[in-house]
Amino acid sequence: MSTDDADQTAAEYWQNRYLSNGRSWSGNVNAALEREIAGVTPGTALDLGSGEGGDALWLAHNGWTVTAVDIAPAALAIGAAAQQPGDDITWVAADLGEWHPPVRYDLVTACFLHSTVDLPRESILRRAAEAVAPGGTLLIVGHAGVPHWVDAEADGHDHAEELPTADEVLDSLFVDNPRLTLADWTVLTKALVARPVTAPDGSTGSIDDTVLTLRRA
Ligand SMILES: C[S@@+](CC[C@H](N)C(=O)[O-])C[C@H]1O[C@@H](n2cnc3c(N)ncnc32)[C@H](O)[C@@H]1O
Repeated sequence: MSTDDADQTAAEYWQNRYLSNGRSWSGNVNAALEREIAGVTPGTALDLGSGEGGDALWLAHNGWTVTAVDIAPAALAIGAAAQQPGDDITWVAADLGEWHPPVRYDLVTACFLHSTVDLPRESILRRAAEAVAPGGTLLIVGHAGVPHWVDAEADGHDHAEELPTADEVLDSLFVDNPRLTLADWTVLTKALVARPVTAPDGSTGSIDDTVLTLRRA
């Protein structure tokens, strides 16, 4: 994080980032979401930290009724502009640190909900789990490593130390949480999954993601 970033609130940081960079991600669905949700009957879905809506748009195209929440209105506007007639998506600009899901959803997903500025990720993910309807699915995908073109030493940041394992994410949902019991859930996937990546210079490699998929009884 640069000194300038540190002076900004999370809302300012992400909004400015999308306003200055425009599209920041591929716009495509995350491979882990597509893989993990294959075969799940569509219903209502909540996408936390949806960014430009690659996942929300894919879910909607596949019959889900989607609520996409992100702190950056500029990101949501990119997603809304790509929405096709018939896509049922509600775009919500909100700080997940303060936002509480108003209802329960058949699918709650949080893909790469990471930030270099303040983000109470653990409490957000606990609320995410609490917002899963009976029989519903929780999918949490996170970074487990840094891309090969990022020199972690050069930017003075030990990224890996900040990145929880799938076991740590699972613990953070249930340990000392009186509102949730692990016994009520089936762990469908708890894995480190390699994903192919291409660097800005065109070189290819892979990066590890943590994938955690749970089904509520
Ligand atoms: C790394 S991006 C991931 C975007 C998308 N889920 C994807 O997989 O492409 C993280 C997203 O989280 C959002 N975000 C960060 N902090 C947030 C907060 N406190 N409340 C809501 N969204 C937040 C950012 O605006 C950004 O769009």
